[in-house]
Amino acid sequence: MALQHTGGVDSATSRRAGLEDAGAIADLMIRSRRAAIGAIPAAVHPDGDTLMWITTTVVPEREVWLMEDVDSRPLAVLVLDGDWVDQLYVDPAFTGKGLGSRLIELAKARRPAGLQLWTFSTNAGAQRFYLRHGFVVAGTTNGSANEENAPAIRFAWTAP
Ligand SMILES: CC(C)(COP(=O)(O)OP(=O)(O)OC[C@H]1O[C@@H](n2cnc3c(N)ncnc32)[C@H](O)[C@@H]1OP(=O)(O)O)[C@@H](O)C(=O)NCCC(=O)NCCS
Repeated sequence: MALQHTGGVDSATSRRAGLEDAGAIADLMIRSRRAAIGAIPAAVHPDGDTLMWITTTVVPEREVWLMEDVDSRPLAVLVLDGDWVDQLYVDPAFTGKGLGSRLIELAKARRPAGLQLWTFSTNAGAQRFYLRHGFVVAGTTNGSANEENAPAIRFAWTAP
């Protein structure tokens, strides 16, 4: 059965995530990534490994923000790791409604000195999104250094 989200995205709020949110974060990332296949290569790890990685590494060691509707149902997740936007995923049913933009503004507020991130070369939608938010292309890789072996682009943002 599809999740019913209430309150619309305009009333969505963001908060720091904790270990109790690990399952929801994993579910969101897995579903968002699966919906983006074609733009993003298929995940190389089984879903259970993703949950384990979020529980043991991502939540304890990085800065995780969850955006939720008024019933506390997760809509989008942002992970910051130092000055890196490590992960940014919006529920596939709610893309294109400004949630990603709100999380990128939050990331800029949290890291006013600047941000960087990787996006796959095939992810044209995300590239448009980052360019619109003031990021510039700072480098490219042929993918030999990432797990997916997929060409990627590094974007960087510095405050104007
Ligand atoms: C990329 C993403 C974070 C943007 O967040 P969003 O809430 O959808 O974006 P906003 O509504 O704030 O801004 C709209 C822009 O986002 C991008 N976008 C929208 N839907 C998208 C999708 N399904 N996949 C990729 N980019 C998308 C487009 O650039 C869009 O602009 P356009 O209308 O000119 O095409 C979100 O769409 C997403 O999670 N996509 C799938 C996973 C992904 O690509 N994550 C980024 C990895 S680097």
